[in-house]
Amino acid sequence: MEFGSVIIIIFIILVVAFILYGTLADADFSLMYYHFLAQPKDFRNKVVWITGASSGIGEYLAYNLIKRKARLVLSGVNVERLEAVRNRCLTLSGCADENILLVPFEIDKFDIHDECVKKVLDHFQQIDILVNNAGISQRADFADIDIEVDQKLFNVNVFGTVNLTRKVLKHFLERKKGHVVITSSVAGKLGAPYSSAYTGSKHALHGYFECLRSEMVEENIHVTLVCPGPVFSAITDRCVTGKLGEKYNHTQQATDKKMKTERCCELMVTAIAHKLDECWICIQPILIALYLAQYFPTIFRKVLLKLLFNRQRVMKMRQGR
Ligand SMILES: NC(=O)c1ccc[n+]([C@@H]2O[C@H](COP(=O)([O-])OP(=O)(O)OC[C@H]3O[C@@H](n4cnc5c(N)ncnc54)[C@H](OP(=O)(O)O)[C@@H]3O)[C@@H](O)[C@H]2O)c1
Repeated sequence: MEFGSVIIIIFIILVVAFILYGTLADADFSLMYYHFLAQPKDFRNKVVWITGASSGIGEYLAYNLIKRKARLVLSGVNVERLEAVRNRCLTLSGCADENILLVPFEIDKFDIHDECVKKVLDHFQQIDILVNNAGISQRADFADIDIEVDQKLFNVNVFGTVNLTRKVLKHFLERKKGHVVITSSVAGKLGAPYSSAYTGSKHALHGYFECLRSEMVEENIHVTLVCPGPVFSAITDRCVTGKLGEKYNHTQQATDKKMKTERCCELMVTAIAHKLDECWICIQPILIALYLAQYFPTIFRKVLLKLLFNRQRVMKMRQGR
């Protein structure tokens, strides 16, 4: 076969692969590979502490992990919701009550973190995986945000996560093993318009935890940054605006273009099981846009942003409509 024909065939294969990926894939290449081709792993006897476990992603992560034989610590603020999640976990797995511990606390009350870690260690004597998932979102124009809102977002999403991780890290270093998982966001990889405090907080997590990863290269301690796109959860119900105490009050509808919570958590569990460094879990076309933003930033900023991002379209997309 002539060299020219080979090039054309390779080109056609690449275009077809790109179209298929752009239509069907809902995660980055590595995660798709591990999800479909690698041996599934269970979490038998592992103690997994999930913050933000009372709803949404944290809740469904708990259901997925309990079916894979993990022992769970569930944290959040709403005790009633946490109890409901625990009961469902017990029904799904048939495991003993003592395999699930509830540790309700507000993550931005930093002085109770030591006490919470002690409670977990008193009960289980070990922590294998800490999933830092608690978080709040925000919608407002950059110019209209009071600094107290930025501080609130950082206290919950960043400083709460960082402080709790530091406490648990001491235990990981003593045991010479551990795994820190962080629910970041696609907003941790690019600028999500009209969510600057949220976007800033998620970018900050990457800064902190990339440093932790670098400092832990000689220890048996792993870091996984998970970046989901839009996923069904209660996040928009309690989303804040630019004024402290004000709610955005947007309720999701079943017809919204968002990923199912179960699917997001299924993929997230694969990323955790295989200790992936970072993963992107996202519906299309946001996933392809994320690839462009990461690998072709100039095209993304100079062409895509200008062509596609007008306020009305962005707002619609952010609402999953
Ligand atoms: N859903 C999405 O589209 C999406 C996309 C990318 C990333 N994420 C990230 O995924 C994570 C989980 O969010 P979600 O979508 O599952 O939303 P969600 O349903 O609202 O869940 C948020 C969880 O965080 C907890 N939380 C909030 N503030 C807290 C505080 N001050 N102290 C302790 N816990 C607190 C909540 O606990 P209570 O209910 O008990 O207050 C709840 O369990 C967040 O970090 C979010 O940024 C979500």
